[in-house]
Amino acid sequence: MAQEIFDKVEALIQEIQAANPTGKEEIEAFRIQYLGSKNVIKPIFGEIRNIPNERKKEFGQKVNEAKQAAEAKFEALQTSLEQAHAEDLMKGIDLSAPGEPMPVGSHHPVSITMNRIIDIFERIGFTVEEEREIEDDWHNFTAMNTPEDHPARDMQDTYYLKDSTVNLLRTHTSSVQARCMTRQEPPIRIIAPGRVYRNETISARSHCQFHQVEGLYIGEGVSFADMKQTLLYFAQEMYGPDTRIRLRPSYFPFTEPSAEMDVYWGLKDEIDYRITKGTGWLEILGCGMVDPQVLENCGIDSTKYSGFAFGMGIERQAMLKYRISDIRLLFENDVRFLKQFKSAF
Ligand code: DAH
Repeated sequence: MAQEIFDKVEALIQEIQAANPTGKEEIEAFRIQYLGSKNVIKPIFGEIRNIPNERKKEFGQKVNEAKQAAEAKFEALQTSLEQAHAEDLMKGIDLSAPGEPMPVGSHHPVSITMNRIIDIFERIGFTVEEEREIEDDWHNFTAMNTPEDHPARDMQDTYYLKDSTVNLLRTHTSSVQARCMTRQEPPIRIIAPGRVYRNETISARSHCQFHQVEGLYIGEGVSFADMKQTLLYFAQEMYGPDTRIRLRPSYFPFTEPSAEMDVYWGLKDEIDYRITKGTGWLEILGCGMVDPQVLENCGIDSTKYSGFAFGMGIERQAMLKYRISDIRLLFENDVRFLKQFKSAF
């Protein structure tokens, strides 16, 4: 009697191992038959009461063997089903075919120009300082020699933060000068690129946000001649080795004396006449010797140290370089416009 039951289990194991269901439905039927909640192995466990005690353990192991055989078989069947499905998907796909080319993006003309300017100054030992765009009144104006009632504040229409008379969007990168001078001992030799904001009507020539690069050099015995030489070097690296510059006297609250620098652009065609107003000269930056009062405002001894500073708008230079006639194009991010600019930077 006992042997009969053993034979039955053995036959079941054989049956499981020999089974060869194909396709999703047959495999599911196999699962239900041998592993489902009403599977055929379960009732065999009940037969244990007809097995003599000394063979009960052996019987349990045998039935388990059947169960494991069913599980192993089902797993193998499923794997082969998945493989077949994957192969199906790959049918007709040529794996040796070359890939689709990925379109290569391009840098924004403002980034290209900014990176060029940074690169030129880094070569002569300036380091980059990046600072906050939300500034306070003191760093943006007061420290830079522009107290509250100073008319020069009207030169730059300011966006103040809601409910604040102190916090504002910086109107120029000159605020970074104050940040650096208050935290660092001279010598200081930095450039500060970044975004600035002014409450201006948007037109082809001006925008309410744009980019500037500020420069600051403070040390012992720094002179106007040092400034001129540095800026000449910059202009020639930026616009070509034959570029000529001129400095015109100007006014900024934070520099004394102050100047504006022009580069000689030429008068080759109609557009040159228009952008240089017929003079051939083009203004590209403001500069000057840092006013001793600014040094003192920021805790630097003006009897020991002197320095120069300069600031330039980046959009303006990008527009000149690429002959872009409308500043708004630089902020619209139309890919048809942007994809025209390819550069290593
Ligand atoms: N901050 C000035 C502006 O936004 C530009 C400028 C002029 C910066 C002279 C300077 C400077 O550092 O020395 O118009």
